Amino acid sequence: MAGLFITVEGIDGAGKTTHLQWLREYFTHRGRRVVATREPGGTPLGEDLRELLLHSEYPIHPETEALLMFAARREHLERVILPALAAGGVVLCDRFTDATFAYQGWGRGVSTAQLEILEQWVQQGLQPDLTLYFDVPAQVGHQRLGPGQSRDRFERERTDFFERARSGYLNRAARDPQRFRVIDSTQSISDIQRTLEKIVSIY
Ligand code: TYD
Repeated sequence: MAGLFITVEGIDGAGKTTHLQWLREYFTHRGRRVVATREPGGTPLGEDLRELLLHSEYPIHPETEALLMFAARREHLERVILPALAAGGVVLCDRFTDATFAYQGWGRGVSTAQLEILEQWVQQGLQPDLTLYFDVPAQVGHQRLGPGQSRDRFERERTDFFERARSGYLNRAARDPQRFRVIDSTQSISDIQRTLEKIVSIY
């Protein structure tokens, strides 16, 4: 059976975690081997980079941040994603390259032309089969986040950062409608799950 690469995206507070759990159960119940993973992260090096990227106290230049995201991604593809796909598994990945375009590109202002070069270098043309983008206005996402002191480097950003990131996601979705499904994540969890079931039932 062919592997299936699904990525799940959304600004912080969009509710991806709940829906990832549902997707994992959906495919497991259908007898598929599911590999649930995340970015930045998914490998020992990637998880170390995640710790730096999310919790460093010192400033990180936006381009350095983008390069570290792609460094973690290169390792993740090599050690987790490509082997799982080759073995016919369903890879459910909590964020992937669209997050780099949204956060480092649109959010922090890194040139998207430069990001496209890194995308081509690291992915060699590989793209997810399906990207589920959970869309909420930045204000709604922000309200769903926990208290300020427990927030990571990204979650501490202001609403306008997330509004730019959201525009970045919607821009990527509009350019690649075959791959993306934009899901209105202001709906109830049960309505969203009904939508998800329709989308994934073809796989
Ligand atoms: P997130 O996926 O929201 O995890 P949690 O649900 O545990 O908080 O955290 C990852 C953060 O990293 C998120 O704020 C987005 C950011 N990020 C980028 O800025 N660029 C990227 O390329 C990726 C993969 C994530």
